[in-house]
Amino acid sequence: MREERVKKVVRYLDDIGADAILLSSGYNMRYISGFSGATGYVWISKNKKAVLTDSRYTVQAKQEAEGFTVLQVEQGYQKLVKTILQEEKVATIAIESKDMLCHEFEQWKRAFPQMEWVFVGDEISNLRRIKTAEELHCIAKAEEIGDIAFEKILSQIKPGVTELEIAAYLEFYMKQNGAEGLSFDTIVASGVNSAMPHAVPTRKKIENGDFVTMDFGCLYQGYCSDMTRTVVVGKANEKQKKIYQTVLEAQELALEQICAGKTGAQVDAYARNWIEKAGYGACFGHGLGHSVGLFIHEGPRLSPNDSTILRANMTETVEPGIYIENFGGVRIEDLVVVTKHGCDNLTRSEKRLIEL
Ligand code: GLY
Ligand code: MN
Ligand code: MN
Repeated sequence: MREERVKKVVRYLDDIGADAILLSSGYNMRYISGFSGATGYVWISKNKKAVLTDSRYTVQAKQEAEGFTVLQVEQGYQKLVKTILQEEKVATIAIESKDMLCHEFEQWKRAFPQMEWVFVGDEISNLRRIKTAEELHCIAKAEEIGDIAFEKILSQIKPGVTELEIAAYLEFYMKQNGAEGLSFDTIVASGVNSAMPHAVPTRKKIENGDFVTMDFGCLYQGYCSDMTRTVVVGKANEKQKKIYQTVLEAQELALEQICAGKTGAQVDAYARNWIEKAGYGACFGHGLGHSVGLFIHEGPRLSPNDSTILRANMTETVEPGIYIENFGGVRIEDLVVVTKHGCDNLTRSEKRLIEL
């Protein structure tokens, strides 16, 4: 499988007229070579596949990057690449322009003044869009761990507990059940804080009548999960019920409509129109969803701005929300796998309004 991925990269280099690529995105390095270390580059040319890293990671790289030469950096990566260039003729090198920092690129240019550089945008990341069965297994497993954590957290949510404590419990439960890390910083937002889609958990104590929005995910063999549930502490009032119901219906509508062949913009529109019709159009500012893989926010997106046609075995989150300043907000997020005629929902947690 990895060989197939390398072949695709080599074919792409041919297409753009580059002799080699210096991958610097950690996600792409891992996808193409298997190396999951935090520092280094992956070099791919017709004749050479190499992981360039420092002594902290060379043993790991040898274990993980089967079929790749592991080169240990001693006096800078530019010197290391010079040794590669003694063995092969390279006039044009591609770099990942969305990943490499300007000052880093300046170093490369300075070290190789005659070299031609080609900027690659999303083309390598796009190879990751359609997931293999093995990848989908890891994503489903990560989402299942999220479901377990959600079930366990419900008994911890009560007046007096802080948002930070709830976040800590969620993270503990995910790790206790097999997560190797978090896929992003856990969001727990209660009461008026839940009006902020990406609120950071605070020392605020949960109060009776609060919405509590929890958006969390974990890593399983490097792959991410992502889910959101909103609950009410005590009895929900009429306005809370209306908002919750509108978000849930918008989500269910989008889940019914999503399938291979539609665009992300089309799927987004089903949910957005529903929320608009209910009078809350101005309260749903973000896109409906995004793909999930080695990275938490991958393309294609379910968004008015993404006309990519969805294909089978892509993943998407479906996460509509309504956020009202000084009142609170609701988001409900599931993670699905797109299929030919619909989708497989990987998220199993309860979605009817939970009053605790
Ligand atoms: N946690 C961010 C998101 O759901 O996209
Ligand atoms: Mn999320
Ligand atoms: Mn998400």
